[in-house]
Amino acid sequence: MKIAVIGVGYVGLVSGVCLAEVGHEITCVDLDQAKIDKLNQNHVPIYERGLEDMVAANRAAGHLHFTTDLAAALKDAEAAFIAVGTPSRESDGHADLSYIYAAAKNIAEQATDPLVIINKSTVPVGTGDEVENIVKTTRPDLQFDIVSNPEFLREGAAIEDFMAPDRIVIGVETDHARKVMAEIYAPFAAQGYPILYVNRRTSELTKYAANSFLALKLAYINEVAELCEVVGADIKGVSKGIGLDPRIGEKFLNAGPGYGGSCFPKDTLALVRTAQDHERPLRLIEMIVSINEYRKRAMSRKIAQMCENEVKGKKIAILGLTFKPNTDDMREAPSIAIIQGLQDMGTTIHAYDPEGMENAKRYLNNITYCDSALACVDSADAAVIVTEWDEFRTLPFAEIKTRMRKPVLVDLRNLYDGQSLKAVGFDYQCVGRPQETVINSMPVSDD
Ligand code: UDX
Repeated sequence: MKIAVIGVGYVGLVSGVCLAEVGHEITCVDLDQAKIDKLNQNHVPIYERGLEDMVAANRAAGHLHFTTDLAAALKDAEAAFIAVGTPSRESDGHADLSYIYAAAKNIAEQATDPLVIINKSTVPVGTGDEVENIVKTTRPDLQFDIVSNPEFLREGAAIEDFMAPDRIVIGVETDHARKVMAEIYAPFAAQGYPILYVNRRTSELTKYAANSFLALKLAYINEVAELCEVVGADIKGVSKGIGLDPRIGEKFLNAGPGYGGSCFPKDTLALVRTAQDHERPLRLIEMIVSINEYRKRAMSRKIAQMCENEVKGKKIAILGLTFKPNTDDMREAPSIAIIQGLQDMGTTIHAYDPEGMENAKRYLNNITYCDSALACVDSADAAVIVTEWDEFRTLPFAEIKTRMRKPVLVDLRNLYDGQSLKAVGFDYQCVGRPQETVINSMPVSDD
């Protein structure tokens, strides 16, 4: 099927490439000429494993095109995905829908009918109705349908999440739209991936409810981790012990410095605002937002405690800046609040991240960026693991100890076995495990 994808950000690009991969004729459109020029030379503007090769292969096969010309992209297209950004509005935390509405108007102006317009961006419940009004008002003559089809892509695993989805949620209001959506996702249905047809508002809300539920798991496990530290319990064991109950599930129970990224912080806040507007406040989610905010900044106090609360003038080595590994994305990364907290206490920050340092410069000031983990820890008073990049799992700790001014290691991702680090001579602290437990307990097997 000939399909246009409007917006070549993270979601638009991954969706466009994957839909081309399963055999559709895809034209991706963006206003940013420089971005389109780069993509037309197979240069992908984001870091996502496997994406660049897929862009090159599908362009070479003639299934994938990039352009700034919306009219050309819509010519003979049966469907158009809207995949533009819905950032948090700074004033009040509501989702900023101006890009969605602008895209809807532009599509309406250029469309040839009939056209199914599919919203892939994360939008508050009811947005599809507003998009329908915009299109109807702009082009009263056009035959069109508005569909909601949220994405559930994790950065760093976006291609596998698209190609092998847990579920595909489709919010439709007409038989024609359902038929077109069934055709788009036929290659996935053929492989047995579940496709859930619901109404449009249900689909829109499902996306927010899913992300907020996952955020809830994280906020909960992080608070339990705090309790573990003072009562002598081990969060790894607790997570395993509760996660083996299939009603709870093992995933998303790793304690850490708080969640970040482009989705959870923005989506939890937007859901809170929507619920308040409908006078059905989701108090649980309001609480999660504040628990997570508190947690990120609290990590800088935890680091200070490991330095006996005398951090002024000390050099702290931060290993990992991005909100999670395998991405260069710094949006809402816990490292930002942690580093700012430490800087407010008068520390000097040296940092290393395998992919995120260029983007980090947009969010953080007065940092010395280093070429490697080893260079970063040179004469540091403490080293802190903030993001669990694979290369940090096998660091040469004996050498690190000799390089540091003081062998203090704060591991906010529970990467290491405390006993071995103690043996090397480190003063080691992780999250959700009291010092004695780390040193004396049996490691929790991941099998
Ligand atoms: C998330 C959702 O997973 C995805 O379905 C949705 O479409 C977009 O938002 P993403 O933001 O890429 O994806 O990141 P994810 O892997 O979900 O991690 C989010 C945050 O939670 C990260 O900061 C991560 O470090 C943290 N996290 C995750 C934990 O602290 N512990 C865990 O056990 C899992």
